[in-house]
Amino acid sequence: MMQSVAVIGAGAVGLSAAVNVQQALPGVKVTIIADKFDEDTTSWGAGGMFRLDLDYHPKEEHRRVRSWATDSWNFYSNLAHSDQTEASGMSFVAGTLLYNVPKEHSYSVMSDLTFDFQMLNQDQLKKLNPRVSHKYGYSFSTLLTHTGTYLKWLMKQFLDLGGSVQCRTLSNISELQDDFDVVVNCCGLNAAQLCQDRHIYPVMGHLLKVKAPWIKKFFWSEEFYMFPHNNYILLGGIREKDNWSTVPDPAIRETILSRGRNLFPHLKDAPIIGEWVGLRPGRPSIRLELELLRSENKRALPVVHNYGHAGDGITLSWGCGVEAARLVKQVVTAATSRL
Ligand SMILES: Cc1cc2nc3c(=O)[nH]c(=O)nc-3n(C[C@H](O)[C@H](O)[C@H](O)COP(=O)(O)OP(=O)(O)OC[C@H]3O[C@@H](n4cnc5c(N)ncnc54)[C@H](O)[C@@H]3O)c2cc1C
Ligand SMILES: *[C@@H]1O[C@H](CO)[C@@H](O)[C@H](O)[C@H]1NC(C)=O
Ligand SMILES: *[C@@H]1O[C@H](CO)[C@@H](O)[C@H](O)[C@H]1NC(C)=O
Repeated sequence: MMQSVAVIGAGAVGLSAAVNVQQALPGVKVTIIADKFDEDTTSWGAGGMFRLDLDYHPKEEHRRVRSWATDSWNFYSNLAHSDQTEASGMSFVAGTLLYNVPKEHSYSVMSDLTFDFQMLNQDQLKKLNPRVSHKYGYSFSTLLTHTGTYLKWLMKQFLDLGGSVQCRTLSNISELQDDFDVVVNCCGLNAAQLCQDRHIYPVMGHLLKVKAPWIKKFFWSEEFYMFPHNNYILLGGIREKDNWSTVPDPAIRETILSRGRNLFPHLKDAPIIGEWVGLRPGRPSIRLELELLRSENKRALPVVHNYGHAGDGITLSWGCGVEAARLVKQVVTAATSRL
């Protein structure tokens, strides 16, 4: 019997899970169901920097998060070193991260994965930028994802492997009960409605796209960051918990610009060419687990939840897809062996 799997969501998390299920279970039919695609998703707008701060994850999850990050890193860096660099939107960028507290422990995954992780002393920090007042700095090369390009690349992989797509809004996962054997739920922030998950909350962010081709390196601090993409630089650093607004606010735009110009006066010459507000799917910990959804008079529907990636959804999406596919495979294999 041919099994059929539905993946809810066409963001980075859903597309990655869908391709991983196809690769882990050739012959299984995979359908992506989503009501938002491409530029309407949060994933499309994300900054795309590969960064993992373990302090944002509960201690008991560190082992899993580390393995997701490692699987993602290996996959992305292979792409960045292959002939798929341009098509997949994956490339390397060097830069610096600044803090006022020591962070080498919570960045241990990054220091393991990168080849050049280095802690900077005060003297080096002043040479980097005489205007910074941060106490701690770390420099390394990391992956930068051009998220729009990457989503398109993932969708092409999915379609080439025989996947199909349905554009529709689900109001309850149990609507999929009759048509699918297993569901992978990658609905992001919408888990607040779809799963009535009380733990999920928005963390609003605001990005400015500016023209500043003289900037070649990433810079990251909690208040202000910039990522150099091919034809523009993204400026950001806004994190507003529990704010559902997706309308660009001129006051926040000014905050980003003034924080940026304080450190990099040359940003005054960088024209703004775009602006975007997005909501990170915040949660105390990522939900990646199997649930058997029971409803009356019907078999239980296996659902692999995969949502709540907050500010790490590009970084962790591939690795979480690997684990989601492993869980789907367990369910499918168990079902087949019962026949
Ligand atoms: C300003 C900002 C900067 C960021 N920078 C970075 C960064 O540098 N690095 C990083 O790793 N991450 C970053 N992120 C975080 C990243 O964007 C998210 O973690 C990630 O996009 C979450 O992906 P997702 O696939 O879970 O959700 P989404 O991209 O939001 O996709 C959700 C999908 O689920 C579908 N869906 C939901 N509910 C339903 C339903 N009921 N019926 C049908 N379909 C449904 C939607 O249609 C959509 O396709 C940033 C986020 C913001 C806001
Ligand atoms: C979904 O529908 C089922 C019945 O089919 C119901 O028990 C459940 O509460 C609904 N879930 C949500 C989140 O509304
Ligand atoms: C949310 O952000 C908007 C835009 O910046 C702002 O006008 C509003 O006051 C904020 N709301 C809350 C609840 O903080």
